[in-house]
Parts: sequence; structure tokens; C-alpha cells
Amino acid sequence: MVTYAPFGPNTGNWNEELLASIAQNCYIPAFEGPPWYEVGEWTVKQVVADITNQLSKKGAIGFVALDSGKVVGCVFGYPMGKTELSAELKITVSIDGMYLDEICVAPSYHGQQIGSTLYQLWSKKVGRKVVIARTMTNPPTIVYPWFLKMGYTVIAEYNDSQGKVILMKDLWRPPNWMIR
Ligand SMILES: CC(C)(COP(=O)(O)OP(=O)(O)OC[C@H]1O[C@@H](n2cnc3c(N)ncnc32)[C@H](O)[C@@H]1OP(=O)(O)O)[C@@H](O)C(=O)NCCC(=O)NCCS
Repeated sequence: MVTYAPFGPNTGNWNEELLASIAQNCYIPAFEGPPWYEVGEWTVKQVVADITNQLSKKGAIGFVALDSGKVVGCVFGYPMGKTELSAELKITVSIDGMYLDEICVAPSYHGQQIGSTLYQLWSKKVGRKVVIARTMTNPPTIVYPWFLKMGYTVIAEYNDSQGKVILMKDLWRPPNWMIR
């Protein structure tokens, strides 16, 4: 059975074993697949260092999905000011927001609502903020439609060969069915 838990430097489950499992069982296999195909680009050590760095940022929020102690999904993000966001995304962003840095599910677990559940847990904890994410649309895969399904809209396109786009969701807004 898949279970979910928050993770970060201040949670009881934060240790080398968890971080290595995120890298080995989830992050690396997920990004070796479509649309990224980053095969051989990541080592466990690098991913562990990156995640440690990202989750150490003030206000960072992370969740993992676990199956028998093995990490099969993870999501994390952190607040970023408009200046920082503009520099990172190379577009002008005029609001502070929460940057959804990564969401990934181990390929053999795709399509089982793990990504959606992680995202719902994460956004609930984020609260009433604007969330910014970045993905690519070329080659077409499930990832971009998945973001649209989660309620994101495109706010900028890079017009590059990978069809990179910046996505935004305003968690301040109630869903349409509430304001009709
Ligand atoms: C994007 C990602 C996290 C989605 O995770 P997931 O657990 O497979 O997604 P879910 O099962 O919650 O999917 C929800 C919806 O997406 C679609 N979907 C997701 N994976 C699918 C698959 N393999 N086949 C068909 N539809 C799929 C379905 O429409 C599904 O809705 P439904 O259940 O109402 O049919 C996952 O594909 C992934 O890790 N991709 C690689 C890493 C990545 O690109 N991350 C984003 C970086 S910007």
C-alpha cells in the first residue's frame, strides 16, 4: 500500500536512507523517462545534494509517497520572490510565489493517482499562494496535460525546441464551482 508523508530537514524521516531512496527509486528513473530522457545525467550523490539544498530553503515543503519503505514519488517546492523567480525563469514575474521545483513518480507507478495525491497534499500545505512551475511540451507526453488537469495555465512560452513553458496556478482563487 502506498502511504504519504511530509519530508524535509525538520521531519523525523529525514535521513540519508530516505534521500538516497528518493534519488534511486524515484527521481532518477522518472527523469530518465519521457519527456526528459536525462539518461545517465544524474548520480544519487548529486540528487541527494540538490534535494538537501532545495529543502533547506526557508518555507520549503516536501512530500514523499512510500511503498514498503521505498520512495515511489516525491514533490517539493519553496517560496521565491519575484526578483528571484524572474532570474530563474528568465521572464518578468511580477508577483512573489511558491516555486514547484519537482514532482515525480517512479515510472512503474505512473497512472495510479500518486502524482495527483502528492500534489494535493503539497498544495494544501502551501496554502493561499501563487504556484509557479516549469515543464516542457515537446515531445508530447502526459506531463504537460497532467499540469493542465491540476488546474495550471501557461503564462509564458520559451519557443525553444523542447517547448518549455512556465505554468501558474493561483491557490488564492476558489474553484469555479464555488463562485458560480
Ligand atoms: C507527471 C507525473 C508526476 C504524474 O504522476 P502520476 O502518478 O502518473 O499521475 P496520476 O496517476 O496522478 O495522473 C493523473 C492524471 O494524469 C493522467 N495520467 C498520468 N499518467 C498516466 C499514464 N501513464 N497513462 C495515462 N494517463 C496518465 C491521467 O489523465 C490521470 O487522470 P485520470 O486518473 O483521471 O485518468 C509523472 O508522469 C512523472 O513523474 N513524470 C516524470 C517526471 C516529470 O516530468 N515531472 C514533472 C516535472 S515538470
